[in-house]
Amino acid sequence: MQGMVSDEFVERVRERSDIYSVVSHYVQLTQKSGRYWGCCPFHNEKTASFSVSPDKGLFYCFGCGAGGDVFKFLSLIENVSYFEAIKLQAQRLGIDLPTKNFSPEEERRRREEKILLKINELARDFYHDCLIKTARGEVGRKYLAARGITQETIETFKLGFAPDEWENIFNRFTRQDFTAQQLEAVGLIVKRKNISGYYDRFRARVMIPIADVFGRVVGFGGRVIDSADDTPKYLNTAETVLFNKRNLLFGLDKSNRAISAAGKVIVVEGYMDAISLFSAGVKNVVATLGTAFTAEHTKLILRYAKKIIFCYDSDEAGQRATYRALPIVQAAGAEVFVVKVPDGKDPDEFIRKHGKEAFENLVEHAATLIDYRMKYVLEHADLSTIRGKIQALQEILPAVIKIPDNITRNEYQKKIAAVLFLDEQLVADEWKKSLRTAQQNSIREAQKNSNIVKRTILSSDENIMIREACETVLRMMWYEDELVDFVLNLIPRENFSEVNREIIGWMENRMAQSLRFDETAAAMELSEAANAQLSRILMGGANDPRDKELSIFEDSLKVLRRVVMKKKYDKILSQAEKYIESDEETYAKMIQESLDLKYQMDKLKGNP
Ligand code: GTP
Ligand code: MN
Repeated sequence: MQGMVSDEFVERVRERSDIYSVVSHYVQLTQKSGRYWGCCPFHNEKTASFSVSPDKGLFYCFGCGAGGDVFKFLSLIENVSYFEAIKLQAQRLGIDLPTKNFSPEEERRRREEKILLKINELARDFYHDCLIKTARGEVGRKYLAARGITQETIETFKLGFAPDEWENIFNRFTRQDFTAQQLEAVGLIVKRKNISGYYDRFRARVMIPIADVFGRVVGFGGRVIDSADDTPKYLNTAETVLFNKRNLLFGLDKSNRAISAAGKVIVVEGYMDAISLFSAGVKNVVATLGTAFTAEHTKLILRYAKKIIFCYDSDEAGQRATYRALPIVQAAGAEVFVVKVPDGKDPDEFIRKHGKEAFENLVEHAATLIDYRMKYVLEHADLSTIRGKIQALQEILPAVIKIPDNITRNEYQKKIAAVLFLDEQLVADEWKKSLRTAQQNSIREAQKNSNIVKRTILSSDENIMIREACETVLRMMWYEDELVDFVLNLIPRENFSEVNREIIGWMENRMAQSLRFDETAAAMELSEAANAQLSRILMGGANDPRDKELSIFEDSLKVLRRVVMKKKYDKILSQAEKYIESDEETYAKMIQESLDLKYQMDKLKGNP
C-alpha cells in the first residue's frame, strides 16, 4: 500500500469492514436477488442502478460505471485518496494506525513541513483574533462590514487582519521558538535589504488564509484597506515549499463536497468573488490565485466534477483570461462552460445586488465553449472588411469542426455564415480547408506515434495489453453473465481471437438455455484449445485483490474500445486520401468522421 501501511493492516481493516453497512450509511439500499440496490451517489439518477454485493465485498453502478471495494467507495464519497479511505475506515472502527519508519531525511522533511504548517495555522489564528477582538482590527472590521461581509463569513473563512506594525509577527513567533528561517520559509517575514534583520510581509491588510484541499493553511492573500494607496491591491504569499499557485485553488477545501454533489464547479477570478458566492449559498465555487488557469488546476477539479464553468470578471482582462483558459481545460478532458456577468459586474457585485437565484440562473444559461468562443472572436474581429471576417472564420472553425454531433455542427456552419454575412459557399470552402489542416495534423500525429512505436517496440507491449484486456473482460463475463451482451455491444466479436470467440459463443448458448456457466460443462463442451484458454483466464484473476477487479475491467474495456475505434480511424484516414481530388464531398465527410472518432478516443484516454 504505497509503502505507507502494510498489506496486513489493510486486510485487517477490510476484514472488519462490511460494505453493506458502510454504503448504507450514505445510500438507501433495498434487497433484490442476492444484492442490494440503490440510487447511485456518484451520478444523478432516478432509478436504482447502483448495486452492492456483500459476499464479494464490491459495489458497482451500471449507470456510470463507478465500482470497487469498500475503500474505493469511501474514497469516492469522501473525496479522499484510496489510502486515506483505509485510514478513515480504520479510525471509524477504532483500529490503530501502524507506525512506519521513514528514512532520517524523510523524517526530517516531514517534521519541518509540520512546523511550517503549524506556523501558518498560528498566524491565521493571530490575524483572525486581531480582526475580531482587538482595537487595531477596527479598520478591518469596518472595511469588511462595508463590503457586506457578515460575521459568519468571517468565521467560515477565518478572515483576519494584519496590524500595521513592522515586527509583530517576527517578535511574536521568534519568542515561541520558531526560527527566522522558518518564518521566512513560509513567507510571513522578509529579509531587510541593507541592514540585518527581518520585517513582517503583511501589514495593515485584511488577511485571507489560503488552504490546500485538506484545509491546511499554506499561504495568505492580503488586501489593502485603502485602495487609493499606491501599494498593490493584493499581496500574496510568494512561492514557498507549501505554496504553489499553479496547483492551488482558493476555497476548494470548503467547496469540494458541494462540487461533487453538483457535478460542476464555478471558477472565479477573485478571492472576494469566491467568498461572496459561497456565503450567498453558491457553494461549488473556487478562485484562482491571480494567475492563469492551468492544466494542474483542471486535474485537481476533475477529481470532483467534470463540468467547469468559468465566471470571470466581465472586463476585457477577465474575458481574455477566460478565452485563454478554454483550450487548456478542454484538452484536459473537462466540459467547459462560460458565464458572462451582465453589465460589467464581477460575480461578487452581481450576487450581492441580485441574489443567489439570479446568479444560478446565469449559471443555468452558461454559454457552451463553442458559443463563447464564437462570441469572443466576433467581438474582437474587424467585421467591416472581408479580410477581417475571414480571419474570424479561421479562428472559429478549428473548434467548430471538432463538434462531435452532426446536426449541431451543421447548425453552427449556418449560424457562422449568417452572423458573418458571408456566402455559405465561402464558409464551406474555408471549412474544407480547416478539415484538411486537421487531417494533416492527424496524419502527422499518427506518423509521430508510429515512429515512437517503432523505436520503443511499443507495439508488442501493446499487443500484450490488448490480449490481457480481452482476458480480463472474458473473466468478468464468466462471473457476471449480464455483462456478455453489454460487452459485445461495445466490442463487436470480430475483435476477439478465434479461441475467445468460441468461449463467448459458448456463453451465449448457455445463457439462451438459462444455464449457468460452470467449469465442468465448459470442460465437456469446449474444444481443447478453448478450454485451456478459459482455465488460464479464470486462473489469471486469482492473484488480483478483489477490489482491483472492477477497475481493471473498466480499464480493459477502454483499451478494447480504443482498439475498435483506432481500426476504424486508420481505415477512414487511409480511404479519405483517395477522395482528396475526385470527390470533395465524400472527402470532407470522411475527415469529419475521423475527427469524431479521434475525439472519442481522446475522451477514453483522458478520463480514466
Ligand atoms: P476586490 O473585490 O477588489 O477586493 O478583489 P477581488 O477578489 O474581486 O479580485 P480582483 O477581481 O480585483 O482580482 C482577481 C485576483 O487577482 C485577486 O483575488 C488576487 O488573487 C489577484 N490580484 C488582484 N490584484 C492584485 C495585485 O495587486 N497583486 C497581486 N499579486 N494579485 C492581485
Ligand atoms: Mn471584486
